Amino acid sequence: MIRVAERLKKIPPYPFMELRKKVKEAKERGVDVINLGVGDPVEPTPQSVIDEMCKRAYDPANHRYPLDEEKGMLSFRKAVAEWYRKNYAVEVNPSQEILALIGSKEGCHHFIMAMVNPGEIVLMTDPGYPAYRASIYLAGAKPYSLPIFEENHYLPDFSKIPPLVIKQTRAMFINYPNNPTGACASKEFFSKVVEFAKKNNIAVCHDNPYSEFVFEGEKRLSFLSVSGAKEVGIELNSLSKPYNMTGWRIGMALGNSQIIASMSKVKENTDSGIFNPIQYAAIKALKTEESNIRKMLQIYTLRRNLVIKSFREMGANFKPQKGTFYLWIPVPKGMSSLGFTNLLFDKAGVVVTPGTAYGKYGEGFIRISLTVPDERLKEAMHRIKEIRYG
Ligand SMILES: Cc1ncc(COP(=O)(O)O)c(C=O)c1O
Repeated sequence: MIRVAERLKKIPPYPFMELRKKVKEAKERGVDVINLGVGDPVEPTPQSVIDEMCKRAYDPANHRYPLDEEKGMLSFRKAVAEWYRKNYAVEVNPSQEILALIGSKEGCHHFIMAMVNPGEIVLMTDPGYPAYRASIYLAGAKPYSLPIFEENHYLPDFSKIPPLVIKQTRAMFINYPNNPTGACASKEFFSKVVEFAKKNNIAVCHDNPYSEFVFEGEKRLSFLSVSGAKEVGIELNSLSKPYNMTGWRIGMALGNSQIIASMSKVKENTDSGIFNPIQYAAIKALKTEESNIRKMLQIYTLRRNLVIKSFREMGANFKPQKGTFYLWIPVPKGMSSLGFTNLLFDKAGVVVTPGTAYGKYGEGFIRISLTVPDERLKEAMHRIKEIRYG
């Protein structure tokens, strides 16, 4: 008899099997389904990055285990340090304070494995990125949800956490610009995080893969730019979203050298590093493809404006948040997240993500991703325009 480990049983199953089944059946019936649920850029990776990868792949020296430098190629880490200096005026030491990762998602897991013992508590926001909860469970630790609400700009209120919970807490995840709400944080909030973490001996992981996607004059922000941040935590970032490289799997952790060394120990004992040509390609992106970020910002701005206008015309009353390539939109009064998601699908063949996919405090909202071709997004907005909010 095969016996599966208990830890896997704790990871919640995909909660919308019914919806998934409906989408599959509709596709089989030939319905032209438009998926606004997934956050994965459709535009290609910049050509120079692809060329660099191809060139490096021909060099046999790159075919061997990339083990010489266990935290990733030093030249990659130097490029990351330079990018942070240029974009955020943040100084990080490439030797001790940066670790190359297979995307920021890997960092979430290694951070918890490195910092938390079984039974200890990890704070995370609700709604929040589901991988946090999964990595907490995989480490045998306990998630504690901090609800975030529009009236607090979707920032958690640490004063509401019971003292007994704080006592058992060893780590926390925060993520701004925030998936799914799109909310951005301020330096003041990050300073509060540092103060709270210092006082209570909590390791902080600020997950920042949407750092470049801010709108309406909002400024991009790194957690490491506030004083004391490096004493308590790290930041994760990624090439996935700014350079349309989700499939390449490359990202980075930066900050506290002890946390970085501990995560590196987990990583060395889990995989054998990132294919060097991918690291060379990432260097190319970081050093030369700022224009791709500007291009994507323009594309998302137009799509964002279109979705905001369409929902307002349907009667939705909401104040869009200023970050990420998602829109967090309230559902009509009297409907649930899932009910509205089903309505959009049944009436228009448009798939969105119900807010409750990100936790119970996501009730009352849907998330729309702007990572679809312009024409498909226009078609989706055209199909749903007869739906009314009340
Ligand atoms: C908040 C958040 N963190 C991390 C990730 C993972 O990104 P990466 O491709 O860098 O692993 C995502 C992807 O959607 C995300 O939304």
